[in-house]
Amino acid sequence: MSVLTKPQPGQAGPKIDRHADAYQHCMVGIRKYWSSDLYKQVLKEIRADRTESEIEASTPEQLERDSQKYTTYQYFSWLEHQLQQYKYLGRYGVVTELSKQAPQLAELLDSAASRSPERLKLNPDIVPPTYYTRADFHQHPGGIWSDDYDAFAYELAAGISGQVYPTQDSAGTSYRNLAKLCEERYHPKDVLDVGCGFGLSALPFKSETAATRVVGCDLSAPALKLSHMRALEAELEIEFRQDSAEELATFQDAEFDLVNSVALFHEIPQKAARKFLRSAHRVLKPGGKFVVADLYRQPGGSLTHMFYLGSCSRNREPFMRSFIALDMVAELEDAGFKDVEIEWFDSATAGAPVPTGINEGSHLNGWSLITATK
Ligand SMILES: C[S@@+](CC[C@H](N)C(=O)[O-])C[C@H]1O[C@@H](n2cnc3c(N)ncnc32)[C@H](O)[C@@H]1O
Repeated sequence: MSVLTKPQPGQAGPKIDRHADAYQHCMVGIRKYWSSDLYKQVLKEIRADRTESEIEASTPEQLERDSQKYTTYQYFSWLEHQLQQYKYLGRYGVVTELSKQAPQLAELLDSAASRSPERLKLNPDIVPPTYYTRADFHQHPGGIWSDDYDAFAYELAAGISGQVYPTQDSAGTSYRNLAKLCEERYHPKDVLDVGCGFGLSALPFKSETAATRVVGCDLSAPALKLSHMRALEAELEIEFRQDSAEELATFQDAEFDLVNSVALFHEIPQKAARKFLRSAHRVLKPGGKFVVADLYRQPGGSLTHMFYLGSCSRNREPFMRSFIALDMVAELEDAGFKDVEIEWFDSATAGAPVPTGINEGSHLNGWSLITATK
């Protein structure tokens, strides 16, 4: 089976020829080598030079700095950065390929936008913050907001990464598991998914929960148009709005039972995160739940965090370090929330036991689940 699992049967999308498919297969193969064999070798070299207690006594920053001397770690770092570049911009990279299909892909989204248009509320006057437009997050050239084909490129790139990381599976199991967990715990009726991207985190709230109203919002118009198209294809009635997490300006006070946000906090600066916390609190009904799944705390102490911190720079995630530096319990309480809990969420299986140490077999960035009540 092709590694390029998007579009799925029944979904419209880009055409990927055999050259591009083979190319991405190769990238995934190298990425798997990087995340397993090479990673294990780096661990071995670090441990050869110090005891486990010395490792634990070091800060992740110290370990990261000291590990720069190992050729294997230098190679590991270089490869992490370059593979992402190749994935997007190599001869058959995702952006290289999809930019050639830009007019057809724009037509697909425009045609979907004309169906049930009341469910897609774009705001051409919205001015995205400069932190959003200046950085090419996770090395996506030009960001996921500048052209319609970028939304498809993001969807395809996420599917390819999902072939490597079990916690980010491309079939969306992790997202369905998160929605199921929310259903089991909270039975929400009105749900808002903030930073919904191309719809992966919003759609399961309609398919896996008994929610009567699900709304997704994001800054990226192309991503919202693709979300709308995917929801129509799946026959799920979801509304999508262009709005910022900081303002949630198009939403009334106390509209939702549950506000969900997956993988957004690590992409915004601290000031924006604090504004988002206050807006989320405002749009929740009293007793409503705020559910955040993001790259925050990781099991495995300094050694895991060393790789994680290194990734922030290698994979161009300018705000990941400042996000993990936030004390989310204190921040949520400051914004008016109570009952804050932070737990490890094994998104691939949901409910798996919390790992106690570093993942020995492969490099893994997992999700923390942060929940709070208004
Ligand atoms: C890493 S993606 C996650 C998308 C989706 N939740 C998922 O897990 O597939 C982050 C999303 O947040 C959006 N975003 C970033 N900053 C935002 C902001 N200030 N307000 C609203 N959306 C934002 C981006 O456009 C992007 O779609």
